[in-house]
Amino acid sequence: MMKLWMAPAGLHIEPGQTRDARDLARIHATGFYRGWPEAEFASFLSEPGTPVYVARDAKRRIAGFALIRIAADEAELLTIAVDPKWRGRKIGQALLRAAFDDLLMSPARRMFLEVSEENAAAIKLYTREGFSTISRRQGYYPKPDGSAATALVMARDLG
Ligand SMILES: CC(C)(COP(=O)(O)OP(=O)(O)OC[C@H]1O[C@@H](n2cnc3c(N)ncnc32)[C@H](O)[C@@H]1OP(=O)(O)O)[C@@H](O)C(=O)NCCC(=O)NCCS
Repeated sequence: MMKLWMAPAGLHIEPGQTRDARDLARIHATGFYRGWPEAEFASFLSEPGTPVYVARDAKRRIAGFALIRIAADEAELLTIAVDPKWRGRKIGQALLRAAFDDLLMSPARRMFLEVSEENAAAIKLYTREGFSTISRRQGYYPKPDGSAATALVMARDLG
């Protein structure tokens, strides 16, 4: 049976499909200085070790997604992005919670992520969802002006 999770604003969350690659690349590019090519998303979507959770409205348009890599007992949040017109409505929270729920069925016992220390909205979301900072990586994220932002490495137990 198809996995499905409820989300706010009449949205729901389900596993991504290969044909979603173009929408994921477009939404990702709205949130990050360095985008990822559509082909990259197509391969993540077709591989078993990289689950993708997609938030859709009633017309199946994509509002946001989370991409995770599972390696042995660790899960890494590779990226999460919500379409700008859907931000601030707890879609990000719902995507993370769908992943936490689904990963209970995986071998992963802990989730890691990296986030720019300048990304206040994302840090707020992660902290609220139980992540805490375990280390910092200086000069990790290149910025358009040629400088680089520090990354926080955050982690949270699963299950
Ligand atoms: C991070 C992101 C996925 C959050 O998605 P979302 O659906 O808006 O998330 P939520 O609504 O669940 O929570 C966002 C929180 O950030 C807060 N927020 C929004 N803009 C903010 C800002 N500029 N400064 C501080 N907090 C902010 C919101 O108020 C909310 O917190 P609250 O519910 O406690 O008030 C979304 O902002 C996004 O796509 N950003 C661009 C891509 C990105 O940065 N991804 C994460 C990289 S690691």
